[in-house]
Amino acid sequence: MIKCNNVQEQAQDLCGEIFERWRELLQSGEFILGDQVLAFESWMSDRCGGAHAVALNSGTDALFLALRALDIGPGDEVITCANTFVATVGAIVAVGARPILADVGDDELLSVETIAPLVTDRTKAVIPVYLRGRPLDIDPIIDLCRSRGVAVIEDCAQAIGTMIDGRQVGTRADASAFSMHPLKTLGGLGDGGMLVTRDPGIAEYARIARNHGLENRNESIRFGINSRLDSLQAAALNIKAQYLDQWLKRRVEIAAFYDDVLSTTRTGTDLGRGKPGNAYYHYVVQSTHRDELQAYLAENDVQAAIHYPVPIHWQKAWLSSQPRIALPTTERLSRQMITLPCHHHLSDGDVEKVVTLIKQFERAVRW
Ligand SMILES: Cc1ncc(COP(=O)(O)O)c(C=O)c1O
Repeated sequence: MIKCNNVQEQAQDLCGEIFERWRELLQSGEFILGDQVLAFESWMSDRCGGAHAVALNSGTDALFLALRALDIGPGDEVITCANTFVATVGAIVAVGARPILADVGDDELLSVETIAPLVTDRTKAVIPVYLRGRPLDIDPIIDLCRSRGVAVIEDCAQAIGTMIDGRQVGTRADASAFSMHPLKTLGGLGDGGMLVTRDPGIAEYARIARNHGLENRNESIRFGINSRLDSLQAAALNIKAQYLDQWLKRRVEIAAFYDDVLSTTRTGTDLGRGKPGNAYYHYVVQSTHRDELQAYLAENDVQAAIHYPVPIHWQKAWLSSQPRIALPTTERLSRQMITLPCHHHLSDGDVEKVVTLIKQFERAVRW
């Protein structure tokens, strides 16, 4: 089977190195915070041009603590998109604010054009999502928000390696949230996340809040939560981080191959349309015969996934608590988009097989 992710293969390749690092950690007894967590924060800070990096136990908590640090809560509105993982909206609801969902463009991304009409006096933040690890046009969104006194939190959960003007995304706005969930391009062997910010106040808030508000072992200055990145996860992530650029390079190579061959097909190329800086967390195309294409690929041992088949405003969680809304582009894309395998364990032969099958499918199907 040609799979859509390489979680198992990555773990198998690196288990020798990871076990060795874990053996050292077990001997040290440093299971909470400590050197491995500090090393991972320092690696992330370097990658993000020296911004503060606070390691947390998930990307969801990074969003949650960024919202809390910005004092966003009941009575406030936060704008984001509906074609994201539920966590983006879950974090807004968790702080007691009201999520407002904007439609996206044909590239599946939010833009200043779709956000601007939704900004009101109650809007306190906007959370643009770098879906698929695609660069989005963040500067006009930040300009709009600054002019209205609105904060911007970049959802970079899928965006490790995504670049704008040659820089890792996640440092332009007030704060950003990265996920190190095992499925991510840089994923742990369990949950993990990182809050990145240039604002020392937000960094300090997150650092204290992730650890029960403790300023030292016995004194808490503000009730917080337990959202520390596990030292065992940090140790594994420090190993994996050394290979990240190599892995990203292979994704870009595979995407270029797909772009080249699929440009002459009806299925077409990635919905990000080859914008530079794409980290290709997902390579996503669209088809009006999406479900049949997925089934055809599966019959031929190729796994293609749908991220995400149910947009947030169609989730039971939304329908039971929020008003019904229509988001035409999001809805159309949710029926048509399909994620093709794109990761560093794919051989050239695997990728050729995927495109050959797509072409065969297109010849066989009645359009
Ligand atoms: C776009 C997006 N936002 C937020 C999250 C939440 O991250 P985590 O699973 O680390 O809590 C994820 C990942 O699953 C995601 O893909």
